[in-house]
Amino acid sequence: MEHSDFILTGDICFCETQRALKTLEGGFLVCLNGKSAGAFPRLPDEYASLPRIDYRGKLIIPGLTDLHTHAPQYGFRALGMDLELLEWLENRTFPEEARYRNLEYARRAYTLLVEDLKKGPNTRFCFFATVHTPATLLLMDLLEESGLVSFTGKVNMDRNCPESLRENDAAASLAATGEWLERCGAYRNTRPILTPRFIPSCTDELFRGLAEIQKEQKLPLQSHLSENKKEIAWVRELCPESKNYGDAYARRDLFGGDVPTIMAHCVWPGDDEIEALAQRGVFAAHCPQSNMNLSSGIAPVRRLLEAGVPLGLGSDVAGGAHASIFRAMTDAIQVSKLRRALVNEHEKALTLEEAFYLATAGGGAFFGQAGGNFFGPAGSFEPGFDFDAVVVNDAGIAGPEQPPLRDRLERIVYLSDERHITAKYVRGNRVA
Ligand code: GUN
Ligand code: FE
Repeated sequence: MEHSDFILTGDICFCETQRALKTLEGGFLVCLNGKSAGAFPRLPDEYASLPRIDYRGKLIIPGLTDLHTHAPQYGFRALGMDLELLEWLENRTFPEEARYRNLEYARRAYTLLVEDLKKGPNTRFCFFATVHTPATLLLMDLLEESGLVSFTGKVNMDRNCPESLRENDAAASLAATGEWLERCGAYRNTRPILTPRFIPSCTDELFRGLAEIQKEQKLPLQSHLSENKKEIAWVRELCPESKNYGDAYARRDLFGGDVPTIMAHCVWPGDDEIEALAQRGVFAAHCPQSNMNLSSGIAPVRRLLEAGVPLGLGSDVAGGAHASIFRAMTDAIQVSKLRRALVNEHEKALTLEEAFYLATAGGGAFFGQAGGNFFGPAGSFEPGFDFDAVVVNDAGIAGPEQPPLRDRLERIVYLSDERHITAKYVRGNRVA
């Protein structure tokens, strides 16, 4: 491992475990062996001999987590945005994903993706790849080399998609999954996650096989839940025995409980679905930009938070056109205000501090839960967190006077882009 022990100095902003925003002007961040040893207003004597990297005058925040995104969709982001979910999948997404059978195409597209992601504020990702084992392993190779941390999943789908993308049957999908998993052993930054696309894409036989693999190998799982009204109606038709969409996963033994699980979207959950998410500790990935672009709706984030559902933010590229989780923060804040205005005046809008929590420690908690011996929790500088840090130079977007740190953070969230990122560390290694 290349990381060493060091100190960063600068203006530090992060959420504490209790979710409060902590700001330290001219503070010290200590990284020991890839983990945070804490953030300090004055450097404790015991660390006095460590090398220091001077970022005075710049903001240092924890790396952001993109809890839900599709690596093969980056190449057609911001296209087809006048379609709703199911038409968009059929007309844009599935034809594009079918191209990843061609490894040369996959290499070109995934190289562009990983190069771009290195420059942004996100340090951790939960990726859907495609059904193709070779292209998924290629993506994992590139990610591994980049130093970015991810869960990456080979997608399973054996029904309801074009022949060019569909796996032949459940047995073929399970065999490919087994082969893929055998070849994931050597990665350190890139871990596998089971990824049945959503209920309509997988036969019951495939779900049964995945539940068995999950039990044997104790793997985390990601999928989509209650995103769009037409999709939900389709799931109701496909699973008439289920009380709701979440229950359809639960009946297939694939809805959290002992298994770290992410369900993307949760735009239209009923009360009992929300309760099940909370009880089973299933993470919801809130993807506000995608929910706007695909006309899905506005997720009830305040209700999810109040019910105790673990929550993070996702770009859902290419449902979302922007990969940066700064953008997901502003979108989350803005749609929560529309929801309060249009849906329920009693659901308070998200604050900047809450959105920052979701983008950092909220989504980062999944890595602590699912990371096994590989990853610790991420998204804070409290002692014991994996040391992911983003250094932002806000000089170009500052006003005539330097406002308090909290306000500088707000401005960065709304206005910064990759030009303002001076450095990025993931697990104590500098990646950009
Ligand atoms: N549901 C199933 N597949 C997808 C996808 O690729 N994107 C989104 N937003 N929803 C999905
Ligand atoms: Fe998605």
